[in-house]
Amino acid sequence: MRIGVSLPDNLLNKFDKIIVERGYSSRSEGIRDSIRSYINYYEWMKEIQGPRVATITLVYDHHKRGLSTTMEEIQHNHTDIIKSSLHIHLDHDNCLEVIVLEGDGEDIKELAESLLSLNGVKFSKLTTVPPVSKI
Ligand code: NI
Repeated sequence: MRIGVSLPDNLLNKFDKIIVERGYSSRSEGIRDSIRSYINYYEWMKEIQGPRVATITLVYDHHKRGLSTTMEEIQHNHTDIIKSSLHIHLDHDNCLEVIVLEGDGEDIKELAESLLSLNGVKFSKLTTVPPVSKI
């Protein structure tokens, strides 16, 4: 199937640069690969169940209107699973935040999804580890 997609210039420029660096034969092949990775990631997310220890790493633009407040509110609503967090002001615009969690996989996922999908979040990564007794 053929689809049409609108993308901001800078996103497409970065994507094209990576495609060249990685030796893809076409932009379409790169897009197919990206969609597969996206699907794999969310399928992996679906399998996070039971007791877990996890980290969420985020880089975001703190100038984005309302973003810092929303992030704070979300975290205040999940104090039952948030064990610790680290915040570093990377430069004039960007902040790095690492949140350490312990709790049920479903709750961790729900929290991660709500943070990862916020507008203004430039990088995000969820890592989970089974409980120490099961390693
Ligand atoms: Ni900051």
